Amino acid sequence: MLRQGAYLLARPLAWSPSASSAVKLLAPIRPFGQTCRRFASTAQATSAPVSQTPGGISSTPDSPIVTASVGAEDKSKPKPYFLTTPIFYVNASPHIGHLHSLLLTDVLARFSRLRDPTRPVVFTTGTDEHGLKIQQAAKAGGVDEQEFCDRVSERFRDLARRSNISHTDFVRTTEPRHYTAVEHFWNKLVTSGDIYKGTHSGWYSISDESFFAASQVGEKDGKMISIETGNEVVWEEEVNWKFRLGAFKDRLLAWAGDPKSVQPNSYRQDILRQIQNLEDLSISRPLSRVRWGVPVPGDPEQVIYVWVDALINYITVLGYPESLEGWPADAHIVGKDIIKFHAIHWPALLMSAGLEPPRTVLAHAHWTMARSKMSKSRGNVVDPIGSLGKWGVDGVRWYLMRSGGSLPDDADYSEEQLGVNYRLLADQIGNLVARISSPSLLRKVKRFDDGDRDSELDEALSTMRNEFGSRMEAYQITRACEGVIEVIMAANRLFTILQPWATDDSTKAIVYAYHSLRLAGILLQPIIPSKATELLDRLGVPPHRRTWGEAVWPVEVDTEDMIRGLREGKKKYKGHLFPQVEMEAVAPTVATAAAAGDSIA
Ligand code: MSP
Repeated sequence: MLRQGAYLLARPLAWSPSASSAVKLLAPIRPFGQTCRRFASTAQATSAPVSQTPGGISSTPDSPIVTASVGAEDKSKPKPYFLTTPIFYVNASPHIGHLHSLLLTDVLARFSRLRDPTRPVVFTTGTDEHGLKIQQAAKAGGVDEQEFCDRVSERFRDLARRSNISHTDFVRTTEPRHYTAVEHFWNKLVTSGDIYKGTHSGWYSISDESFFAASQVGEKDGKMISIETGNEVVWEEEVNWKFRLGAFKDRLLAWAGDPKSVQPNSYRQDILRQIQNLEDLSISRPLSRVRWGVPVPGDPEQVIYVWVDALINYITVLGYPESLEGWPADAHIVGKDIIKFHAIHWPALLMSAGLEPPRTVLAHAHWTMARSKMSKSRGNVVDPIGSLGKWGVDGVRWYLMRSGGSLPDDADYSEEQLGVNYRLLADQIGNLVARISSPSLLRKVKRFDDGDRDSELDEALSTMRNEFGSRMEAYQITRACEGVIEVIMAANRLFTILQPWATDDSTKAIVYAYHSLRLAGILLQPIIPSKATELLDRLGVPPHRRTWGEAVWPVEVDTEDMIRGLREGKKKYKGHLFPQVEMEAVAPTVATAAAAGDSIA
């Protein structure tokens, strides 16, 4: 007689369909109006002692915090979870490093939606289209700047589409809405008294679009280079507008004193060191040097410095100056090369304009090729479109997040490692779902009872979701991926030990494999969204049961329902969840310098 049917575990249940929406582990949401504060903006105020408010936000006692004038307070609305990627330079086509910044942000956005579906997510990306670098690249390509930007910007948009990025806005710095925001912001800086016109001299790097002081440059092969970035610099002396960055030292120290401000901590320590030594920042350049940019309001002979222009994109997307709903950013996701701009210049500029600094600047390390920095000039950049075509979007997403998801450490990109990572998914997840979908094994499923319990899997499954959640919350994406795969490995081991094909009762092997896959499918939705969806489809998990609240164990085990789901899944999907990719068919994805001038022709 078959022992098939529903069975309630003896242990108290942590699961019920209605409990799903009740599980909320995110920090309580503060309405926008409670968090948006005006900062003191005068240079004199900085000498006063800095106090720390409970939210880790600093202010000076003589500059009372008031609600910002933009973004009218609406206490009935939760503040959206606001995430941003850097906006990408359009001087060249996208490479795998750009995709990494996009993906990391996408994973966090999707995780928030999974964890707290009621909280809106604002997730913005876009392209950085002004400055000398772009002006020169357009010239080299023989096209006018706007046309050049239109074409290359479209490639970034296309990359986002192909890699299943769930952004809510794509901003371009050549859009009228951005000009409006930049001009308004500039005028705020003027009113603050924190900017002045003066003479500036220093070493300028076009690649970095940044001035460097004499102490930050050195000579290499007869050329002057920035010690920090290795890019060539040229001596420039010019009249431009300058921002009293040094006057913000105390307020910046207070902001960066909060461990949440810049993460991981090693990057924050570096920023704290840099804040000790601030020079005034050049924030415009003469029109004679760069003409492709936003003119300084009221001073048409000057063009706004491209980094100031670019950083403002983070408020353009919220509708600034009319609206700022969603500010401050919960996290600006940036590569380690551009932390200074986000964690020193941007907070200071915001404070000067009377706006709150971002809550977190989250930095990631870089992808290298054969341990050397990827760069267009070295011709060793990886073309993400090629990789996506060969390994599928989730093959690439999984590799980048599993191997490059450790934020402090660089990861070395290789096609071979991509293959190893893909096979891990195929061997562990793909094979397990294939194993349990076998009709002959499903016929041997009976009722699940106490005798079928496995203590190792019970333990692993019951802690799986919260462990995943806390790792994701700590931005340990690599470890979050590891945790899931380890449970699936344990389920595969159990399956092999039980040899369900050799006995007349496959219940225990299939139930544990099924629920391990079910939890993995739910939790991996932010990381490999399409494959996770297909996995859950193959298991027959209905869409409304793919929530955070459902990713629990133990549960009421309904083997009839499980068998029905697996049989339907089998009808719907032919073949393997992760089809084999022939390594021989894998041509190298290393693009020889996708230089925009060459590639847009
Ligand atoms: N336009 C500026 C950002 C302005 S944001 C207000 C910029 N653009 S970029 O196109 O050069 O870089 C965009 C992102 O790609 C940065 O986060 C950068 O760190 C990242 N990456 C570029 N090369 C990378 C790797 N090799 N590996 C990982 N990410 C890297 O900077």
